[in-house]
Amino acid sequence: MSKKLLEIENITVRFGGVIAVNKVNFSLEKGELVGFIGPNGAGKTTLMKTITGMVEPQEGKILLNGELLNGKPIHERINLGLSLAQQIVSPLNSFNCIDNVVLACGKNKTKNLFKSLFINETAEEEKKAKELLEIVGLGEVLNEYPETLPLGYLKRLEVARALALDPLLLLLDEPLAGLNQKEASSLGDLIVKLNEKGQTILLIEHNLKEVIRICKKIYVQDNGRSLAYGDALDVMKNEDVKRAYLGTNKNA
Ligand SMILES: Nc1ncnc2c1ncn2[C@@H]1O[C@H](COP(=O)(O)OP(=O)(O)O)[C@@H](O)[C@H]1O
Ligand SMILES: [Mg+2]
Repeated sequence: MSKKLLEIENITVRFGGVIAVNKVNFSLEKGELVGFIGPNGAGKTTLMKTITGMVEPQEGKILLNGELLNGKPIHERINLGLSLAQQIVSPLNSFNCIDNVVLACGKNKTKNLFKSLFINETAEEEKKAKELLEIVGLGEVLNEYPETLPLGYLKRLEVARALALDPLLLLLDEPLAGLNQKEASSLGDLIVKLNEKGQTILLIEHNLKEVIRICKKIYVQDNGRSLAYGDALDVMKNEDVKRAYLGTNKNA
């Protein structure tokens, strides 16, 4: 049996005339923490959304643990072991941090958020929510409401909500965006800690300094195409990768 947890084979996504993802191949093994980088517009978020089922590709296959995901609705993919911490955080503002995580607990609930609001939260789920919030460093603000918290905390809350699904594969879409370098490196440390505990993670990130610091392996996409994959330092020395980033800076 293959050790691959995630297999992406020849994926293409078009939005009208725009080819956001172009014949992309990529795979990830259990236990890995892989950084996924590329200039703005490279198709990173779109590829992530094809994995979770928010976008259906026109071509190609996606497998999780050997099981074909194409055509499956989002909640089934979650049940199979996927979880995504989104680039734009969207906590439930009328619930405190614990309840935000409690509501994310339990895969059966993901089908129907409305229903889950009326199910008695079990003491077990509250315990789990507290533990997760402590793990992500929010042990001090368990009862605070999201709108009173700075972005750095909300990014951690988003990670706790994603972890509440007990994912086989945790997808993180720019968790460090908007954070200062100190906050970013502390959240980077948390990502490493989660990985060391056995969590497989695919990390989309713009903060190259942090990606190079925390990820052994890096996958690069540019203009919808797979550009490079390998050991972090080798990838950063790759001429195509350098050119892709320099090209972006010139146009920025
Ligand atoms: N829903 C959409 N409709 C139309 N075009 C889109 C949509 N989502 C993304 N795109 C386009 O696809 C390309 C890749 O975008 P995206 O996946 O967000 O890149 P990245 O996350 O790497 O910055 C961009 O040209 C973007 O404008
Ligand atoms: Mg993006």
